[in-house]
Amino acid sequence: MYVCVCKAVSHKHIHRAVNEGAVSLRDLKNLTGLGTCCGKCVPDARRTLTEATARR
Ligand code: FES
Repeated sequence: MYVCVCKAVSHKHIHRAVNEGAVSLRDLKNLTGLGTCCGKCVPDARRTLTEATARR
């Protein structure tokens, strides 16, 4: 399921980005482009980032 519809970024993409070293929303934006269009995905992206970093 997409977190960011505008940039077609899924939960899986976020987990992969975290595994590759992303630690902040800025990192995710730079790596995936999420949140750079309408911004509606940012709260869900932040939650997913928190979950993914907790698993590392
Ligand atoms: Fe992510 Fe629009 S849904 S920028």
